[in-house]
Amino acid sequence: MKLLQKTAVFLLVFVLLMAAGTVCAQNETTSDILVIYFSRTGEQYTVGVIDKGNTSIVADMIADATGADMFEVLPEEDYYPYTYNALTDVALKEQREKARPAYQKENLPDLTQYSTVFIGAPVWWGDWPMIMYTFFENEDLSGKKLIPFTTHEGSGLSGFDKKLASAVPGSDVLDGLAIRGNDCQNRRDNVRTAVNEWLSKLGY
Ligand SMILES: Cc1cc2nc3c(=O)[nH]c(=O)nc-3n(C[C@H](O)[C@H](O)[C@H](O)COP(=O)(O)O)c2cc1C
Repeated sequence: MKLLQKTAVFLLVFVLLMAAGTVCAQNETTSDILVIYFSRTGEQYTVGVIDKGNTSIVADMIADATGADMFEVLPEEDYYPYTYNALTDVALKEQREKARPAYQKENLPDLTQYSTVFIGAPVWWGDWPMIMYTFFENEDLSGKKLIPFTTHEGSGLSGFDKKLASAVPGSDVLDGLAIRGNDCQNRRDNVRTAVNEWLSKLGY
């Protein structure tokens, strides 16, 4: 009987220690850096039909290098076409109407735990896709370091940094990075090098 009791106590202590260990491990691995991005698959300019979006490739590289958590901005209702010309029409209409398309919030982490947020999107008609403004206006990113990145086919950063700073008053916007979408699909090693050089200049 005594032996049974001892075994039971031992097992209980063991289980409690394991549980505590798991909690600690979770806390240790939780980053204070977040990568938020919007990106599309389907037919894209100069690259044909892609099954991983250009911006999502850069977002993965940033998260790999920094250990950041990730959040993909996905439309609540996905009415964006998967053919390039049709997509440009929808995007232009949204921009002209200053639309604020809704995004899915189910997997949005608690933003208060992050001090640095990398934020990326494709350049759409020289600007952030309108859904990103919905995000900036709905979520509290003030007081954080915000670091923009774009993928594009010629327009570069397109003032994403200044537009982000004015959409999120009280944030500290650092130097952004612009990568050619085509390079994401076809020259991935070069892109990784550019991403890593940019991160180390920023101190990450
Ligand atoms: C609606 C739309 C508008 C675009 N407007 C621009 C633009 O103004 N300047 C530019 O350089 N590229 C523009 N592009 C090209 C995209 O920025 C580029 O292909 C980007 O890498 C796509 O990223 P994604 O695969 O993450 O969605 C546009 C593409 C789309 C679909």
